[in-house]
Amino acid sequence: MEQMRFDGRVALVTGAGNGLGRAYAHLLAARGAHLVVNDIGAALDGSGASELPAKQVVEEIKAAGGQAVADAHDVGDREGAAAAVQRALDAFGRIDIVVNNAGYGLSCPFARYPADEFQRLVGVSFLGTVWVTQAAWPHMQKARYGRIVNTSSASVYGLPGNSAYGAAKAAILGLTRALALEGAEFGIKCNAISPSAATRGVAAFPESELRTFLMNYLPPERAAVAVGYLAHEDCALSGECIVSGGGRIARMFIGQTDGVVDPDITIEGLRDNLDKIMDSGRFEILKSNAEAIRYCARQLGFAHPERLFFTLDKR
Ligand SMILES: NC(=O)c1ccc[n+]([C@@H]2O[C@H](COP(=O)([O-])OP(=O)(O)OC[C@H]3O[C@@H](n4cnc5c(N)ncnc54)[C@H](O)[C@@H]3O)[C@@H](O)[C@H]2O)c1
Repeated sequence: MEQMRFDGRVALVTGAGNGLGRAYAHLLAARGAHLVVNDIGAALDGSGASELPAKQVVEEIKAAGGQAVADAHDVGDREGAAAAVQRALDAFGRIDIVVNNAGYGLSCPFARYPADEFQRLVGVSFLGTVWVTQAAWPHMQKARYGRIVNTSSASVYGLPGNSAYGAAKAAILGLTRALALEGAEFGIKCNAISPSAATRGVAAFPESELRTFLMNYLPPERAAVAVGYLAHEDCALSGECIVSGGGRIARMFIGQTDGVVDPDITIEGLRDNLDKIMDSGRFEILKSNAEAIRYCARQLGFAHPERLFFTLDKR
């Protein structure tokens, strides 16, 4: 089987000094990509800074015969994000792939979540993705080629104590889907990953059966496969979120149940039809706002919803 390679491609992986990002950087470099290994060198809670993790991964890549440069900018800072992209342009002359991986979690009950910590987390884990992508975007538009892989998480299903993290990771899905539609005409594909891997957070657990299980079954390299595919020229997807960990790959999707249609529905009618409304036996996976409007219009009995709303896709 012909290997899916990245020769001639330049990739920026943020937060690549540890865990998942490191595995992504190694995978892409081993298959021919030139890498910018970005990492601020923060602790698990996002605090602190060190140039060492990024430099060390660059040394590892070089020792394995790959090409890489280090970058220690904070992607949560708009100028830092732009500088990380500039590093790719200065070192390798182009940017083809952005893997927005930098992020961290901070658990705190919502009622007591400090405002500055909430903003800091969203500022790195969500806005960092925005700033890096926005800096790379014009170059990708000009090249009429780009692959963007963002990092969401299972926390979007609901993770108590992690309101900031879950919100940031859900915001990434909305961003990913908007950029998939905006990027289509420029050959830019934008997807997300919901990874699972035993990284330094798990490594810090006390010895236990759970820790051993996670360390054995969830090495970051197994999750990296999905990033490799989504970053590749052959990637057939855009606007999707791929679940990846331990060798299990699946699709996370956003859809709507068929629900009920009754123009005269009342609050009581809603209550009495709740089972039907919530029944996910029949549902539609929706790719865009326009598709959602068409779906709704069809349910409401419009004869030709596709004629009414086709222009929305182009907005
Ligand atoms: N490990 C999992 O199972 C899992 C699950 C879901 C989502 N994720 C997400 O995957 C990503 C990587 O997770 P990980 O487990 O490898 O974490 P990790 O803590 O091992 O690595 C994250 C790296 O990001 C860097 N970083 C943090 N803030 C940064 C900033 N402002 N600028 C540049 N770099 C920064 C850190 O220094 C660190 O090296 C994160 O976005 C995380 O939320 C991980």
